[in-house]
Amino acid sequence: MRKRIIAGNWKMNKTVAEAKELAQAIVQGFTRTDSCEVVLCPPFTALAALREVIAETPVKLGAQNMFWEEQGAFTGEISAAMLKSAGCTYVILGHSERRQYFQESDETVNKKILRAFEHGLIPIVCVGETLAERQNGLTHQVVEKQVRGCLADLTSDQVAALVIAYEPVWAIGTGVVATTEQAQEVHAMIRALAGKMYSTRVAESLRLQYGGSMKPDNAAQLLSQDDIDGGLIGGASLDVKSFLQIVYA
Ligand code: PGA
Repeated sequence: MRKRIIAGNWKMNKTVAEAKELAQAIVQGFTRTDSCEVVLCPPFTALAALREVIAETPVKLGAQNMFWEEQGAFTGEISAAMLKSAGCTYVILGHSERRQYFQESDETVNKKILRAFEHGLIPIVCVGETLAERQNGLTHQVVEKQVRGCLADLTSDQVAALVIAYEPVWAIGTGVVATTEQAQEVHAMIRALAGKMYSTRVAESLRLQYGGSMKPDNAAQLLSQDDIDGGLIGGASLDVKSFLQIVYA
């Protein structure tokens, strides 16, 4: 049985004080823990503060990115070991905004995933097609290429442990959510692909999140689908009430 996972991707929002305040409110409001894992992914600068806020609670900490090298002269970068030592359990890798603005590719995301696992971090790997790709009927092809590229050289156990977030680029931050059918269809495709590439066991344990304008009013329906195990929430994760409504959905 896959445990559901709702992660808040705060992106480049919140100062340390603001982040603490938001996390405190979420922790206070999240009391049912059995059926859903909750992960907060603040900016790097707020990781230390959130680690204290979530201590002794079921809420977990995640980062939004990391570099693939172990350590050294890479000004401005953050390593997997640093994130682990800062209390992270998860790390978001290959978000479409990183692909778009920072030239990340499946190849560099793959290097990051391998390094994250070496340090005991669980990657949340983002994939998804652009609007033009969807309109040209390329969705499956694009997502399959991303999944294969990102997961290259991973062991079956690693793939079984990770999280893939399907985030259609046209739905991120736009208010345009994928229909339940569109989302479920791609999630099922990703799970079937994992079955083909690895095994039924891997496909059954791999957790798949939907991301892209998930809100309280569409979350329950998306999350009721067989292959949607959770959500990666951007905008709605910055508001306590909306975020908790999605968690309880
Ligand atoms: P959104 O972002 O919920 O604001 O669309 C989702 C994401 O980018 O992870």
